[in-house]
Amino acid sequence: MMAQESQPVLDVDDVKVHYGGVRAVDGVSFQVWPGELVGIVGPNGSGKTTLVNAITALTHITDGDIRVDGETIKKFAPPRIARLGVRRTFQAIRLLPDLTVVENVMLGADDGGSPLDAAFRPLRAAKAQRRSRVAALEALGRVGMVEYAELLPGALPYGFQRRVEIARALASSPQLLLLDEPVAGMNPREREEVSELLLNLRSEGLTQLLIEHDLGLVTRVSSRIVVVDFGKVIATGDPVETIRDERVREAYLGRKNA
Ligand SMILES: Nc1ncnc2c1ncn2[C@@H]1O[C@H](COP(=O)(O)OP(=O)(O)OP(=O)(O)O)[C@@H](O)[C@H]1O
Ligand SMILES: [Mg+2]
Repeated sequence: MMAQESQPVLDVDDVKVHYGGVRAVDGVSFQVWPGELVGIVGPNGSGKTTLVNAITALTHITDGDIRVDGETIKKFAPPRIARLGVRRTFQAIRLLPDLTVVENVMLGADDGGSPLDAAFRPLRAAKAQRRSRVAALEALGRVGMVEYAELLPGALPYGFQRRVEIARALASSPQLLLLDEPVAGMNPREREEVSELLLNLRSEGLTQLLIEHDLGLVTRVSSRIVVVDFGKVIATGDPVETIRDERVREAYLGRKNA
C-alpha cells in the first residue's frame, strides 16, 4: 500500500437492532471521522440510545456491522471495546454514591492494577493505583472539577455530577467519546457550561458522538449532525442546514415531547 488512507474512527454500517417486532434501529449507516463531533438528534424512541448501546456491545445487533478503526467489533464484549478507546456516558447518571469523585473517575482509568496484584504484589498495585489517580485528576482538570475531587458525588449539583461522568469517560484518554444526552435535566447555565466543555474537547481534537435533544446546543457544538427517526437516518450534514430541512422539522419538531 502507498500512503495510509485515512479512515473513520467509527463506521456504523447498515446496523439493525430489532427487539422482537420493535425495529429500534432499522438500517442505520454513518461514519465518524477523526476530530469530528457528530451530533445525533431524533424524537424520543427513535433509536439513539440503542445505537450507542450497540456500539458499546450492551445490546446485540441483529444485522449490519460496526467498525472501529476499520476493525469489526461485532463479536467483542464491552471491555474489549473500551480497550479500543471507545468510552461513553449514560443517559441516567451512574456514579457510585459511596466513592469520592476522584475514586469514581479512577474506575474509568485504564490501569488500576489487577486484583491479583493487590493480593500478591502490593507495591505494583500501589503504583498502578497512583497512576490511575493521576489520570483521574487530570481528567477532572479537563472538566474543571479538580477542586471537588475528595467530595462524594451526592454533595454536588446535578450539572457537576454530569461532568464527573464525563471525566470518568475521559480518564483513559479515549479516542472516541460517546455522550448520551449529557445535558438532560440541566438548567440553561449548566447546559452552556457543558457545551463549552464539549467544544473545548473538540478543539483538543477529541472525536465525539453526541446524542442530544436540544437542537440549539447540537447546532452550536457539532461539526455535523445525523437525524434519526423510527430507527432510520432521515438527514445528515452541516448542522444548521440539516436542522432547516423540512423533513427534519416535521419529524422532530412536529412530534417533539415536552
Ligand atoms: N431492551 C429493549 N427491549 C425492547 N425494546 C426496546 C429495548 N430498548 C429499547 N427499546 C425500544 O426501542 C426503541 C428505541 O429506544 P431508544 O431508547 O433507543 O430511543 P431514544 O432515541 O434513545 O429515545 P429517548 O430520546 O427517549 O432517549 C423504543 O421504541 C424503545 O421502547
Ligand atoms: Mg435515549
